[in-house]
Amino acid sequence: MKTIQKSLLTLLFLTFLQFSFAQSSVDVKLYPSEKAPQISKHIYGHFAEHLGRCIYGGFYVGEDSEIPNLEGVRKDIIAALIDMKIPNLRWPGGCFADTYHWKDGIGNKADRPTIVNQWWGGVTEDNSFGTHDFLNLCEALNTEPYISGNIGSGTVREFADWIQYVNHDGVSPMADLRKENGREKPWDVRFWGLGNEAWGCGGHMTAEYYSNLYRQYATYMTDWSNTTDLYRVASGASDGNYNWTEVLMKNIPKNLIEAVALHSYSVIDWGNKGSATEFSETQYFQTMQRAYKMEEYITKHSAIMDVYDPAKRIDLIVDEWGGWYDVEPGTNPGFLYQQNTMRDAMIAGMTLNIFNNHAERVKMANLAQTINVLQAVILTEGEKIILTPTYHVMKMYAVHQDAQLIPVSYDSPLFEKNGDSLPAISISASQGPKNQINISLVNIDDKKSHTLSIDVRSLNIKNLEGLILKSKSIQDHNDFDHPETITPIEYNKAKLKNGTITLDLPPFSVLVLKGN
Ligand code: AHR
Repeated sequence: MKTIQKSLLTLLFLTFLQFSFAQSSVDVKLYPSEKAPQISKHIYGHFAEHLGRCIYGGFYVGEDSEIPNLEGVRKDIIAALIDMKIPNLRWPGGCFADTYHWKDGIGNKADRPTIVNQWWGGVTEDNSFGTHDFLNLCEALNTEPYISGNIGSGTVREFADWIQYVNHDGVSPMADLRKENGREKPWDVRFWGLGNEAWGCGGHMTAEYYSNLYRQYATYMTDWSNTTDLYRVASGASDGNYNWTEVLMKNIPKNLIEAVALHSYSVIDWGNKGSATEFSETQYFQTMQRAYKMEEYITKHSAIMDVYDPAKRIDLIVDEWGGWYDVEPGTNPGFLYQQNTMRDAMIAGMTLNIFNNHAERVKMANLAQTINVLQAVILTEGEKIILTPTYHVMKMYAVHQDAQLIPVSYDSPLFEKNGDSLPAISISASQGPKNQINISLVNIDDKKSHTLSIDVRSLNIKNLEGLILKSKSIQDHNDFDHPETITPIEYNKAKLKNGTITLDLPPFSVLVLKGN
């Protein structure tokens, strides 16, 4: 009798084991299709505002600095951003853009007027980093500039002159001025934002008022070079302000616009954002909930755009996104300087997968911000720099730039906390040059690993390699004494057999597989 009971118990236990194994195994299918969109490299774009130590004391240390520099911009930063394959850089704001008068930032540096940074700490700037400095930096980075023009406190003429100054290749008042200032050839700037957050720091406008103003400004934006088609970006909604997108799509004629923007930050609570490094399990989960909202925002803004633009001629661009926490203790609250942990790597991996999977409508995105501000990819302290976990995710994901999306399907297991749940797994895939297959996988669950089984029979994969970003604790980060606590390591535990890849994705990890 006892033996029968024992065997029954063993059987029950084995069945339970089998069941729980089946529960945690995720079947992933890839659907390569010639009709799938290209993942624009510009989804991997960045943002540099005159804010805190992003420009001054970040990028720009001045030509007289002992830190090795190119025309005042740190060479170590230039090298790191080239290595990360930065495709575009948005400048000079942000809120700063609608206070910026570009003519104050050209000509002899000693003669330039100062500007007080109204939005960020009230500091006085000497305008030593201006249009030439920014556009020369973009050339050094081999990245495309994206200039945010001043609609909030500027004029139509000032805006139109700026375009003539940087793009006109003949004899004209602004091209002549540019040449006097030492630059013969135009820079051919394609991406132009018409104001920033026009509903807020960009002028507290209504959508109706802004769309009229947009039409006026866009009318005088001339493509002087005849080689560069201007790409005009309307200042977009924040998060779920769908009415803003609807009014813009309805009121702005299609021949005046190339893209509508969207801003969305992963912030738990604007009144209580919490520490960047010392956060609880609940706060971690709340940040992931907030970051995952990007899926909903993009889906719903795109649905509105589909009504007015079914041919998808107008792009949706998320030109500000990222995690936002309390500033580091003891730093200027107006400078938005925060550390960057594995939590930020989770935000980055998940959000970039969302952008990739919406590649049909989302053609550009700009992480806020490149250096020393919000979810930065680089932090500086004196002559030292560190590359953050977010930097590593951006670099790992660079394989997707301009590759063709491969749609994926899977039923994600749930990441549960305090009665709420989120999909634990996030995946996107693409096919790049020489038919290389790229699969980026994120497990945001901070406790459980998940077994994945990826069906790649439709793709001719013979060799597999991978890079993984993981750590012991979700709060782990790189600091100036330990700059390499978190760096990607080679991952060779994925098994490829009979057209199926099987692997275990550790808790809070980002993995990028390359197959060919
Ligand atoms: O990125 C910081 C600020 O956030 C930007 O200046 C503004 O556009 C947004 O509110």
